[in-house]
Amino acid sequence: MVTRIEKITDETLEEAKKILFSGGVVAIPTETVYGLGGNAFDDDAVKHIFEIKGRPNDNPLIAHVHENYNLKKIIDYDPPYAKKLREAFLPGPLTLVYPSKGRVSPFVSCGLDTLAVRVPSHEGAQAFLRAVDIPVVAPSANLSRHVSPTSAEHVFDDFNGKIPLILDGGNCVGGIESTVCDVTGEVPVILRPGLVTREMIASVVGRCEVASAELKEGERAKSPGMLYKHYSPRCKTLLFPFDEADKARAAYFSEKEKGERAAVLCERSVAEKLCAEGIFVLDLGETEREMAARLYGLLREAEGVADVLIAIEPRKQDGVMAGVMNRLKKACSSRDIAH
Ligand code: TXA
Ligand code: MG
Repeated sequence: MVTRIEKITDETLEEAKKILFSGGVVAIPTETVYGLGGNAFDDDAVKHIFEIKGRPNDNPLIAHVHENYNLKKIIDYDPPYAKKLREAFLPGPLTLVYPSKGRVSPFVSCGLDTLAVRVPSHEGAQAFLRAVDIPVVAPSANLSRHVSPTSAEHVFDDFNGKIPLILDGGNCVGGIESTVCDVTGEVPVILRPGLVTREMIASVVGRCEVASAELKEGERAKSPGMLYKHYSPRCKTLLFPFDEADKARAAYFSEKEKGERAAVLCERSVAEKLCAEGIFVLDLGETEREMAARLYGLLREAEGVADVLIAIEPRKQDGVMAGVMNRLKKACSSRDIAH
């Protein structure tokens, strides 16, 4: 199969719509990362997405809908505080997990009696979702465990020959996936941190909890996706705390001595110092939004230029940086990844 990258026009939207309604998969841009879009009502399309990603079949997908889609068609209960969250943050990088059973293909939620719903703000995504007017499942358009894609080229690198069309909506401004927030209980619970932070949610509805990444014995994960190794570049990775830049520097020179191609990924203030010492640096940037937007592109770049990626944690770790740290830790936690 030939994989084309096309700018978003009336013609390419029409083509994408045809592919979707004939059971195919189209990559779409969103403000967070690119997604692999499929018809949420079509069992075979949903199963096909799991197959081409190599995704474990107990990791549910998010249904994406346009701004004016009638939620009642796909969810069973809408707690009053969820409406407040939608009004404050949607369209945008916040996914809400509602009680829902039997509304879309059973393969979407992998047997859970909930459905994650997201309304992306990216204009191209909205145009596509308006055109099809159905819920579209769209996991991040990367091979399972690989780094999520923030450009059409990233998607092409993972799915060339496996999907017919990538709608090119430019580089994603958000850069890390949406915040996933469970609204099935009395209080919202963040299952995956992202650009809509705990503090932002609490400021709208009074309270917000964050699910622990560790499972207690006998407990079932509320968001199975968080259990898997994720976001990993295809090179060896080492991660150092912010105050251990010296150790990172030593690790860099020791790798160089072994003849390895090494690179250090760190925030701007640290990057400037290391660069002055002749160290090869991948500069995450300065502001938290910038670091979120640049993280995945740099992890993919590292694959091409380094055998060993030495990452130094950013100084700030709350707010948006909780999401960045979550991804960085996962990216550096394992070399056991799909090639
Ligand atoms: O920003 C995003 O959310 C991107 C773009 C493309 O929209 N999509 C994305 O999808 O990140 P994916 O499939 O890579 O991640 C979905 C996350 C996983 O951690 C999954 O476990 C969780 O959402 N999730 C999906 N449905 C759920 C459900 N019913 N209950 C709990 N967690 C759910
Ligand atoms: Mg993903």
